[in-house]
Amino acid sequence: MLALFSLTACAQKQNSSDHMIQSNTKERKVLVAYFSATGTTRHVATQIAEAVNGTLLEIEPTEKYTSADLDWHNDQSRSSVEMKDSGARTSIKPDSVNADDYDLILIGYPIWWDLAPTAINTFIESHKLQGKCVALFATSGGSSIDNSATKLEETYPELHWMQPKLLNRPSSQEIRNWFEALQ
Ligand SMILES: Cc1cc2nc3c(=O)[nH]c(=O)nc-3n(C[C@H](O)[C@H](O)[C@H](O)COP(=O)(O)O)c2cc1C
Repeated sequence: MLALFSLTACAQKQNSSDHMIQSNTKERKVLVAYFSATGTTRHVATQIAEAVNGTLLEIEPTEKYTSADLDWHNDQSRSSVEMKDSGARTSIKPDSVNADDYDLILIGYPIWWDLAPTAINTFIESHKLQGKCVALFATSGGSSIDNSATKLEETYPELHWMQPKLLNRPSSQEIRNWFEALQ
């Protein structure tokens, strides 16, 4: 019932505008929340926020990841240990975002071990996103976004998930095409 309602709510926002991105952004309040360890996803999130006139929010771990933490060759590094534990939740700095202020929430992250970093789970679990329209985007060294998106969709079925998109060095046209297709 909740899922049906939220689907309708997302569709109404989309249908009430024409297909120009300018109309979409006038109608829909968009939050662009992202985690980035080394700056690549931050750059893409900034491009998206500019393109859709969205509010940019950095998901910041309480303890910043060092180069040693990110060493995937070391199975004892912080990222390796966290990513092997599906229950791990990296602590993040609190923010003042109220999800109800937004019609659409875009969440971006780097692919880690074919998954989303656990900071994304922490972000989702620390905000009231039930029934909200949410779309994922990611950067990677080549992996697809599909497995990470499927895992998040399975873990949080109460969110209204929209089309995820891998955005490695995207053109502004690619960002616009993805955003306009979200419904
Ligand atoms: C711990 C760790 C694991 C990674 N695992 C993958 C992976 O499974 N597939 C892939 O294509 N890239 C992987 N990468 C590369 C990152 O996804 C890629 O460099 C990303 O753009 C970094 O984004 P950022 O600068 O916003 O942190 C990994 C990077 C790190 C640090």
